[in-house]
Amino acid sequence: MKQESVQSQPGDLDTRWHDVIKRRSFLAGLSASGVALSARELAARDKDDRRLPKGDVAVIKFLAAAELVESDFWQQYNELGGVHGGNPAYQLALQNLDSDMPQYISDNTDDEMSHAAFLNAYLVSKGETPVNLDAFRTLPSSQATGAKQIGRLTNLMNLTVDTSWYTQYRSTQNPDLGGGPFPQAVHIVNQPSIPLDDADTPPDQKQPVPPANHRQRRMQAIANTAGFHFATFDQKGSSVYTNLILNVSSRQVLRVLVSILGVEVDHFAVWHDKAGNAVSQPLAGVTDPETGVRFPDLNSPPFGGEEFQTNLIFPEPCAFITRHFPACSVIRPSLRRNAGAVVTATAIANSQLFLGQPQEFFDAVIALAKAADAARREPFDDDDD
Ligand SMILES: [Fe+2]
Repeated sequence: MKQESVQSQPGDLDTRWHDVIKRRSFLAGLSASGVALSARELAARDKDDRRLPKGDVAVIKFLAAAELVESDFWQQYNELGGVHGGNPAYQLALQNLDSDMPQYISDNTDDEMSHAAFLNAYLVSKGETPVNLDAFRTLPSSQATGAKQIGRLTNLMNLTVDTSWYTQYRSTQNPDLGGGPFPQAVHIVNQPSIPLDDADTPPDQKQPVPPANHRQRRMQAIANTAGFHFATFDQKGSSVYTNLILNVSSRQVLRVLVSILGVEVDHFAVWHDKAGNAVSQPLAGVTDPETGVRFPDLNSPPFGGEEFQTNLIFPEPCAFITRHFPACSVIRPSLRRNAGAVVTATAIANSQLFLGQPQEFFDAVIALAKAADAARREPFDDDDD
């Protein structure tokens, strides 16, 4: 009896081999998305071939798309301003926010690429198709020194950055309980967050604090915009992960998403701190001479106080669940109407991050978002201890 159970029949081996070949050729087609599974991972799939609940798949697919988007724009930041970035003046301007900025940018880029690759590989391991946005990598690159000339998913050259998270997280009010509106910390409208070309912002210029001439002010305002854009995206990421996690059914999917959420919040906290350095002394007061976007000193009148003070970077305890409970320091918002996939995707689209994408792109993203918002918890027992 024991011997029979360990001996494979030739027919079984053939079937299994064909399964592996089929899977490998399928996976080979996914290389552009950075998805690759090791033999061990493929073997693990053989052991656990239960399909996930439909809602879990929809949630992971939306988040995989969000991570692909994040990876795309972080790669652009990394090419120019990362630790091996190719634009020294941009790196210097970012270092005026924190001398470690290039390292943080490179590491954040790695993290987002790992999230996208992991979520897609996880989908494949559960028999689902991965998310592939390669057909939409058509937007132009920056012409500045350091940028690769390849098609992009995202556009960092004309951003409108919602900075209301800054005053929201300093407030005791919670948008989920009717709090707000929260004022913008900085009015960043139609502003690039990467240098556009070398004529505008020469790559070899110095970046003193405060910037001394037209081009230096322009480059500093661009770097300051990046500082706020980093935090804005991760704040929205922290909220949408928190919301979507509420509707997954698999314990393992819960573990995957909670574990990634923690890193998104970690990023948000760091970028919150760095953004504050753009609006405090000695750097505060920079105005982009081309767009007029201004980074005031938020520690001085008419700003300052609890609503604007730049070192109040940890979330203020706020109303949570009901106003009857004591205030609690939490990620917010987290309800679908304020932090769901459609709301978040719409807010990101409104930031002009996808400026130049065709209607098909927006349709595809909104379809993924609607499916994710439709997910509901259901009984599903997959003890992942
Ligand atoms: Fe991420």
